[in-house]
Amino acid sequence: MGGPTDRRILVTGALGQIGMELLEALSEKFGAENIVATDIREPDNFENAEINFLKLDVLDFDKFENLITEYNINEVYHLAAILSASGEKNPELCWKINMDGLMNVLELSRKYKFRIFAPSSIAVFGSDVGNLARQNSPLNPSTIYGITKVAGELMAEYYHSAHGVDIRGLRYPGLVSWKVMPGGGTTDYAVEIFHKAVSSKKYACFVERDTRLPMMYIDDAIRATLQLMDAPSESLTIRGGYNLPSLNFTAEELYFKIKEKIPAFECTFEPDHRQEYADSWPDETDGALSQNDWGFELEFDLDSMCTIMIESLS
Ligand code: NAD
Ligand code: SER
Repeated sequence: MGGPTDRRILVTGALGQIGMELLEALSEKFGAENIVATDIREPDNFENAEINFLKLDVLDFDKFENLITEYNINEVYHLAAILSASGEKNPELCWKINMDGLMNVLELSRKYKFRIFAPSSIAVFGSDVGNLARQNSPLNPSTIYGITKVAGELMAEYYHSAHGVDIRGLRYPGLVSWKVMPGGGTTDYAVEIFHKAVSSKKYACFVERDTRLPMMYIDDAIRATLQLMDAPSESLTIRGGYNLPSLNFTAEELYFKIKEKIPAFECTFEPDHRQEYADSWPDETDGALSQNDWGFELEFDLDSMCTIMIESLS
């Protein structure tokens, strides 16, 4: 693939937590006129009028194919998915959207040769992973969402080796952002806490105070995504999902850091069913392979992340 102006990009699940931020970064880098944003829902807060928005259910293969050919797409960011907590409520739907949706993208790429970004997650790991998840740690997830992510990584490796599909993936940690509320995940508390700290100054956190998970500020995640998609194909040693370096902090450490900046903020800890999913995931991730293969480094730490979240929401 050549320079920036050659990119004709389609994003699925574009109205979600990552999609709305990615669209902005993609349109800045490649021009809004080269981007087609799609989602199963209609947008109610779509600010960038220059980006073409079209409704697309990723399970509708024919419509998907028509869009790929009509807009001459050569790169797809496949973000449409059901996340961990929503997935446990409706495992069949989670499997269908996460797997059949991915299969449609893979088959279309086999035919039309576009590059794919398909994210994986720290949810690929299960309770046998220990505190630090390495690239090659065991993948024994306990959620249906995690199972779809492991299967998705394997399908990515298979389509790459068997059919030459240029697919790339990252195991995102929990992502912290302020523009769009997260969509039914376990790490959502790390976003909700900021909204409540700024608005009502009270939050009941749905995991225990000592719950420690790998996290990342959204700008680092978007930068990692664009960097991976720009990396020369021959530098990539895996296709399913690169571990990323990540921040790690407990829910209580996050609370205390926010309280340093908003002293009136009070947080209680009232775990619900999502505690079990959080407990099955690692505390932190080792991102050595992404650093080695395509040079990724984190820019935000816990303090700078909290500062930008609070300033942006205030
Ligand atoms: P999100 O829930 O915020 O957004 C997903 C979008 O997909 C929603 O806008 C939804 O309307 C859309 N969608 C659902 N079903 C669809 C269908 N059938 N056809 C088309 N669109 C459909 O999710 P997100 O946080 O933006 O996550 C995007 C990707 O990143 C997912 O693959 C997710 O597993 C992965 N990921 C996210 C995080 C995180 O912390 N946000 C962490 C790890 C991995
Ligand atoms: N943030 C996601 C979730 O909690 C992890 O993939 O489901």
